[in-house]
Amino acid sequence: MLVLQSLVFGVFISLAVAYARFLWKRRRMYHLAAKLDGPKGLPFIGIGHHLFNLSLTEIFEYLMNEPEKYETPSKFWLGPELVVFANTPDMLQIVLNSPKCLDKSPLYDLFVLKKGLLIVGGEMWKRHRKALNPAFSIGNIKKFIQLFDEKSKIFVKNCEKHIEKKSFDVYGYMSACSLETLLKGNCNYVCDIQSDALNNVYIKNVEKGAKILMDRVKNILYHFEAIYHLSKLYRDEQLYIHEGALKIADEIYEQYRNQLKDKNTFNDSDGYQMEPKNFVDCLLEEKNQFEMDEIKDEINTLVAAGHETSAFVVSCTILMLSMFPEVQQKVFEEIEEVFNKSNYEIDYEKLSKLVYLDMVIKETMRLFPVVPFGTRRSNDEVEIGDKVIPAGTTIVISTYSVQRSKNFWGDDADKFNPERFSPENFKNIHPYAYIPFNGGPRICIGWRYGMMFMKTILTNFLRNFEASTELKFEDLTCKIALSLKLNQKCLISVRKR
Ligand code: HEM
Repeated sequence: MLVLQSLVFGVFISLAVAYARFLWKRRRMYHLAAKLDGPKGLPFIGIGHHLFNLSLTEIFEYLMNEPEKYETPSKFWLGPELVVFANTPDMLQIVLNSPKCLDKSPLYDLFVLKKGLLIVGGEMWKRHRKALNPAFSIGNIKKFIQLFDEKSKIFVKNCEKHIEKKSFDVYGYMSACSLETLLKGNCNYVCDIQSDALNNVYIKNVEKGAKILMDRVKNILYHFEAIYHLSKLYRDEQLYIHEGALKIADEIYEQYRNQLKDKNTFNDSDGYQMEPKNFVDCLLEEKNQFEMDEIKDEINTLVAAGHETSAFVVSCTILMLSMFPEVQQKVFEEIEEVFNKSNYEIDYEKLSKLVYLDMVIKETMRLFPVVPFGTRRSNDEVEIGDKVIPAGTTIVISTYSVQRSKNFWGDDADKFNPERFSPENFKNIHPYAYIPFNGGPRICIGWRYGMMFMKTILTNFLRNFEASTELKFEDLTCKIALSLKLNQKCLISVRKR
C-alpha cells in the first residue's frame, strides 16, 4: 500500500514539476497575452468548451462575432494555444507581409497534406513555392484559356438539361467542371468527370473529408493522437481521405509517368501545349529534387485547393446574378459588346476587357470569401501598434470579418453592390480590407488562373442562359466546413437566351 502511495505521489510530483516548467518557459507569452483583450476561458481548455457542441454555422458565427466584442487585437485560448484575431486592414497588412509570420498554425498539424504548399512552412515552403510558381505564369494562364473554354461548354451542356424545368443546384455541375479542367490543365490528367457530374466519388470523398477534419478540430480531446486513433472519426478519415480522396495523386502520378514514356505525345496531347511547364512538370523537374511524399502532397493540395474554391465562387456569382437581374443584364450587355455579338472566341485579351464582370466576381468574393479564415504562426514577437503578439501565437486571418466590416466598407457593407469595385470607388478602400486570395508572399498561387477560369465559365454561361432564383439574398447564411459554405443550395432556373 505504501509503495502504491509513494508511486502515485511520485507521478503527481513529476507532473506538477513538468507543468511548472512548461508555464515558466512560456512566462513571456502569458505576460504579453495578459495585455490583450478577449473572452475568459477555463483552465487547460480555454474556450474549447464553447466550440464543443456548436454546429458548423454556430462556430462560424462565434468566430465572426466574438472578436468584435473586444479591443483589437483580441485573443482567446484554445487549450494551450494562444489565438489572436487579425481583423483590421492595418493588422492584416503587417501580419501577411511579416517574415516572422510565414508559417501556419500548429492546429494544421491535425490536417493531412503536411508537405503541400497550403500547410508546409519554413524553408520547405520557400523551396516548394519557388519551384511551383512558373506553373502559374501569365504565359501558362493564356494557354489555359482554350481549355477553360472547351470545358465550360460541357458545363453549359449540363445546365441545358434544365432549361425551362424546375430549379437545380448549379454547384454540382460547376464542381465537376472545375475539377476536370484543373486535372487536365495542371496535371495533364485525362478524365471524364462532367459526363456523370453529380456522382463523382472523389468530390463526394472530399466533402466527407472536410466534415471529418472539422469534427476533429472542434473536439479538443481528438487533438491528442492517442485518443483520436481510437475513435470512429479516425477510421472514417482512413476510409474517405487516405484510402479515398488522396488516392487521386497516385492515379495522376501513374498516368503522367506513362505519358512520359512516350514523350512525343505528352506535351501535345489533345492539342494543348503547356509551355513552359505545368504543375506536375515543375514537381518532377530534377533540379527541384522533390521527394515522393512531397510530390503526392503537392498534387493533392493543388487539386483540393484549386477545384472547390473556383466552383464555389462561380456558383455564388451565378446565384447573385440570378438574384439581381439588372446586374445580370449589365454583364450580358458587356459580354455582347466585347465579343461584338457574334465572334465568341474567348482569349485572354477579351476576358481582360470584361471589367464589369470582374467587379461582380469581386463583390461576390467580398461577401462570400471561400476561405473565410486563415491562420499564421508568429515565430517571433510581432508589434501591432502599441500591442505585442507573443512568439508562438496562432494568428487568425479574419478575411470574412474585414470584408464585411462597416468600418471599412460603409453602412451598406452587407449589401451586394458591384459598384464598390469601380476604379473610382475602390481606390478609397484599404488594400488589405479586401483579401479573398490573402496577400503578401503566401498569396494564393492560383489567383490569376482562378480569375480567368471563372470569367470564361461565366461568359459562356451568360451568353447561353438567363438565370433566375426564388432564393432571397437576405436569407443566405454561411457555415464553415474548412472552407466557406452556404447553408442554402445554389438553386437556379435557366432560360435559353
Ligand atoms: C476563386 C478561387 C480561389 C480562391 C478564392 C483562393 C483563395 C486562397 C486563399 C485565401 C489562400 C490562402 C490560404 C491560407 O493561407 O490560409 C490560397 C492559397 C492557395 N491556393 Fe488558392 N484560391 C483560389 C483558387 C485556387 C486555384 C485555382 C489554385 C490552383 C490551381 C489554388 C491553389 C492554392 C495554393 C496551392 C495555395 C497555397 C499557397 C501558399 O501558401 O503558398 N487556389 N488560396
